[in-house]
Amino acid sequence: MCGIIGINSNRPVSVSIINSLKKLEYRGYDSAGIATLSDGLINEVKSEGRVDNLEKNSLIQSMNGTIGIGHVRWATHGAPNSINAHPHSSQNVSVVHNGIIENSTLLKKYLIGKGHKFKSQTDTEVIVHLITENLKNENIAESIKKTLKALHGSFALGIIFKDQPDLIIGARRGSPLAVGYGPNENYLGSDSYALKSMTNKITYLGDGEFCILKKDFVEFFDEEGNKINKKVLELSSDEKKYDKGDYKHFMAKEIEEQPLTLKNGIKEYIDSRNNDINIYNFPWKKSELSSITLIGCGTAYHSCLMAKYWFEELTSLNVSVDIASEFRYRKNRFKDDTLYTFVSQSGETADTYAALDICKKANMKTCAVVNVIESSIARDSDFVLPIHCGPEVGVASTKAFLGQILILYMLALKIGSIRDDIKKSIFNEKLKNLIDLPKLAEKTLATDNKIQSISSIFNDVKGSMFLGRGYSYPIALEGALKLKELSYVHAEGYPAGEMKHGPLALIEEGLPVVVLAPRDNYYKKTISNMQEVIARGAKVLLITNKSKDEVLSENIWETIEVETTNEDLLPFLLTIPLQKLAYYSALKKGFDIDKPRNLAKSVTVE
Ligand code: F6R
Repeated sequence: MCGIIGINSNRPVSVSIINSLKKLEYRGYDSAGIATLSDGLINEVKSEGRVDNLEKNSLIQSMNGTIGIGHVRWATHGAPNSINAHPHSSQNVSVVHNGIIENSTLLKKYLIGKGHKFKSQTDTEVIVHLITENLKNENIAESIKKTLKALHGSFALGIIFKDQPDLIIGARRGSPLAVGYGPNENYLGSDSYALKSMTNKITYLGDGEFCILKKDFVEFFDEEGNKINKKVLELSSDEKKYDKGDYKHFMAKEIEEQPLTLKNGIKEYIDSRNNDINIYNFPWKKSELSSITLIGCGTAYHSCLMAKYWFEELTSLNVSVDIASEFRYRKNRFKDDTLYTFVSQSGETADTYAALDICKKANMKTCAVVNVIESSIARDSDFVLPIHCGPEVGVASTKAFLGQILILYMLALKIGSIRDDIKKSIFNEKLKNLIDLPKLAEKTLATDNKIQSISSIFNDVKGSMFLGRGYSYPIALEGALKLKELSYVHAEGYPAGEMKHGPLALIEEGLPVVVLAPRDNYYKKTISNMQEVIARGAKVLLITNKSKDEVLSENIWETIEVETTNEDLLPFLLTIPLQKLAYYSALKKGFDIDKPRNLAKSVTVE
């Protein structure tokens, strides 16, 4: 993870660097640092914790350099403290780094042998000393080329040099990096968002490329050092969407925005006049596809799992689902007639990108379901289905999950109808239900007060379980993940039918168990499983949908009812109370909801 920024200007840059770092905090928030050049010296200031701490550091006020680099860190090598914070500098060179240098131990040994002294436990510091060592015999361009060649692993780098008052080097392998263009100044950033307040003119570095960034121009080079031309993109401005407004946390805002996410997605893809789903320019004929493989990480993986149920129900495609970090190292049997679909909010997740890269190298058909359309996964896939949910800032994914499953549901419906796997009348009916979904999501959001008080169930407990069957199983996994990451309570998501094959042993008096039992095909089975856990002392919170029929079970601790719709769409509504449970539980405990411990929004390291 980690976020990097660089500014080369005629004006002092430290304040702008700090402001951009605040926007990059979603990438890491263990520590932060900045280095600028002034009077022929590299000045470095670093602080443990958030960018706010760095900003309060009195040394920042006296930094008047007009060229500089900054960093927010998500620790990989070495504890999150001010010594391991970036930038890392020698007398000649200062470096910020996002990624992991896999051969850092070997390189460090070599450099120590050459007399270099290391201050930190980071892998990054080897880059500083390697450049410094190479500069003894080479010019800057050659020493950078030589250094990049020697590094194994992934990196986005920003580098400044003591003797070069008008030069920042940017380089990328694996981790993302963008260049921005301003009036008499140019920028480097991990993403365009960090640069948005300064420019909307952006170039993304490709894998293996590096750049020479001067105040008045930027030059790009490929891995071999050949000069290349790159496109400048003009991005639309959506600054306002990054505002928390009246909400206490981005997560609270993003949960409430979900009806809008659904509305936008439906507006983008559904042609209600002609009762159709528009997926323009889909590059493959129906005869070219007989299976789909869905790949993602974390919440995005849960979206894939959810989609598996829909694709199996609505289409005749063979469906498989994979966790990207597993897929990328397995011996995959690639098939020409498979659509490899990559699901990601950020579009920058390292494992998901690596899985895409493997599929591309094998000449497979690739499709991306992403939120950030300028991202690497979107740019490098054959076909992109955007989520259209606007920026998601809270680290725990909420509206992007609903956005992802909406797109995947519509894709399944569309493919099912093109292949004649579902009747037109059923397709029309499902479309009608889908159009009503945002309203139902809005109504479901209104059950707020009850969820607030119920969320105390997770105070001082040893653990908890989330159970569901069929369509509700992936949602149970997602509910458990939300609780873990926000409230730091152990939460196990499980298919309810599997309980008696082992996990039932965990049930004891008072253990909170959230049971998802909407009135669908699995209802009666799930209710039986629920009774088995109640009989063993579990404190059960049942989440179901409204119905005229009473739930036939005794000793349920509490029940939450979501609105009613067709079976396919209930997972959307069941998700909402689970997100709120996790939110309120963390709120009561006073935890940092938008930035939970040890996590980051965009996981750009393996
Ligand atoms: C959990 C969460 C993560 C992400 C995962 C993939 O709330 O946000 O599990 O879903 O890191 O991220 P993207 O979707 O950006 O690829």
